[in-house]
Amino acid sequence: MDQIRLGVIGCGGMMKSHVRGLSIIRDRCIVSAACDIEEERAKEVAEAAGAAYYSTDYKTMLGHVDAVLVALPHQLHFECGMFFLQNGVHVLMEKPLCNTEAECIALAEEAEKQKLTLMCAYPVRYWPGIVKLKELLDTGDYGEIFQMSIWTEQYTDVSTFPWAASAKNLGGGQLFSHGCHYIDLLLWFLGEPISGVHFGTNKGTPWMEKEGNSNVVLTFENNVMAYHFGTWGARGTTHSYDFQVFTDKGYFEYSRANGKLIFKSDLGPAHDGPKEITWEFADDSKQTQYETLHFLDCIRDHAEPMTSARASLQGLRVIWKLYEAEEQGKIADLRGLGLKNI
Ligand SMILES: NC(=O)c1ccc[n+]([C@@H]2O[C@H](COP(=O)([O-])OP(=O)(O)OC[C@H]3O[C@@H](n4cnc5c(N)ncnc54)[C@H](O)[C@@H]3O)[C@@H](O)[C@H]2O)c1
Repeated sequence: MDQIRLGVIGCGGMMKSHVRGLSIIRDRCIVSAACDIEEERAKEVAEAAGAAYYSTDYKTMLGHVDAVLVALPHQLHFECGMFFLQNGVHVLMEKPLCNTEAECIALAEEAEKQKLTLMCAYPVRYWPGIVKLKELLDTGDYGEIFQMSIWTEQYTDVSTFPWAASAKNLGGGQLFSHGCHYIDLLLWFLGEPISGVHFGTNKGTPWMEKEGNSNVVLTFENNVMAYHFGTWGARGTTHSYDFQVFTDKGYFEYSRANGKLIFKSDLGPAHDGPKEITWEFADDSKQTQYETLHFLDCIRDHAEPMTSARASLQGLRVIWKLYEAEEQGKIADLRGLGLKNI
């Protein structure tokens, strides 16, 4: 299979980012079909992506596609993913994989049975700036991590896509829908989680049934700690998407807004390494092309995606435990939920 025929399903806000990403990797896959229940949206995306076929019913895409990219409201992920896996089609599923553990496991098992690639679309894991940060930390030359903090500050009024305001359809609140990227990332960077707490409210985001602002603190093995603040209520920000890592030799910061990854050490003569280095990755878009390339590589090589269904489920389990503990006024026990226990 030289060039995969990719069908795209759900031609709303996120698909516009994917269309941009897909236009960069036309040598690796062709968008052969587009689907949305709103015909105009399907037509518009089909035209923008060069797809010959569009439809308002994804079931009619069989025969036109080898793989699909699903960007539907969360409550529809399972049904759509299962339909394509059962019909021999690889699936790249927008995050979060599904709204319940049973659905995630059923999809993972179906993909395994059919020997198909099922991957969760977590683009942050594949951004060159984040991959570089991980590589640098893994060398050990920049010291041992003791704290990672992530700030993601957006203004997302979901009244234009009201399914996302409903806790049932979304599967939770801002933490489940958006924080899932960063819980997954923290598991990848920091290893085995031990405990955690979450506080969320919808103050400032009254359109959300559950939280629109989310604060998470996690502890990991070796006394490493992590923090994530995510909001859909930022009427202004200088952070946007910011990633900070503190080590015993210095400090890293990656800002998606300016595309810079910086290492800085103020230790003076006590530190024999570099005082300040900057790497540049100028692209403030969602950079979805990298995750899509990984998906295509996995199909070609029959390899397990880094963000496989089972890997992505670990992060969702962390979130469900955090929600449960928050309701009970307790600290969540997260032992056993690292990526090595998939
Ligand atoms: N990775 C990211 O950064 C990111 C950002 C935003 C959204 N997302 C994810 O993308 C997915 C879609 O979110 P969105 O913001 O684009 O939502 P959206 O509401 O803008 O788009 C969803 C689209 O699905 C269509 N649709 C609904 N039911 C359908 C059906 N049965 N068949 C075909 N089409 C149908 C709607 O008409 C709409 O156009 C979600 O999983 C969301 O979490 C990811």
